[in-house]
Amino acid sequence: MEHKRIVVAGTDTGVGKTMVAAMLTLGLDACYFKPLQSGTHGGTDTERVKALTGLSPAHFLPERYVFSRPLSPHRASELDGVEINPRALTLPPPASRPLVVELAGGLLVPVTRSLLQVDVLASWRVPVVLCARTSLGTINHTLLSTEALHQRGIEVLGVAFVGEANEDSERTICSFAAVRRLGRLPWIKKPTAAALRKVFKGFTL
Ligand SMILES: Nc1ncnc2c1ncn2[C@@H]1O[C@H](COP(=O)(O)OP(=O)(O)O)[C@@H](O)[C@H]1O
Ligand SMILES: [Mg+2]
Repeated sequence: MEHKRIVVAGTDTGVGKTMVAAMLTLGLDACYFKPLQSGTHGGTDTERVKALTGLSPAHFLPERYVFSRPLSPHRASELDGVEINPRALTLPPPASRPLVVELAGGLLVPVTRSLLQVDVLASWRVPVVLCARTSLGTINHTLLSTEALHQRGIEVLGVAFVGEANEDSERTICSFAAVRRLGRLPWIKKPTAAALRKVFKGFTL
């Protein structure tokens, strides 16, 4: 395993970051970490990855911040009366088990009133898997995201597409952004650990 630590980013909220992170955590026998969790109603992402993967508690790090409302961290924290300390948003050093880190929402989400998530990401110096939908609108969203990553010198391992196949959109994105296509996670009616492990085999990290 070449990449000991990987960040799972997305072009937006709801694009499938948690599903891709669960797949990577299983496939790499990694540890999952969601530093900033906004929204607890209906469960946290960590709880979802636990349920999806069935992995032992040793595969999960506790969140650094958990906010009750499903809002951008800068606002969710304010409404909970909590101040986010950017210095608390560091990653653990490389360990024997790989680390899969899931971001909150899209890249330009504010963490505080003066700090964007992508700038926290840049400080980590860890390569990124960018999750992108395959449906209409994805070319614009994904190219904007890769531009933001490239501008800050953040290493992009490639794009993990989520949804039904759209060969032209996938090829167009990878060509304009000069990034690799890592694979595609199709829509799975009832996602199980076995199904996610199978899809992972088709990915090239
Ligand atoms: N490949 C997939 N197959 C089935 N459901 C999916 C898939 N990808 C995402 N979903 C569902 O879509 C919703 C958003 O996905 P999620 O992984 O939570 O996105 P994000 O973490 O980017 O907010 C969730 O309800 C999730 O279960
Ligand atoms: Mg998520």
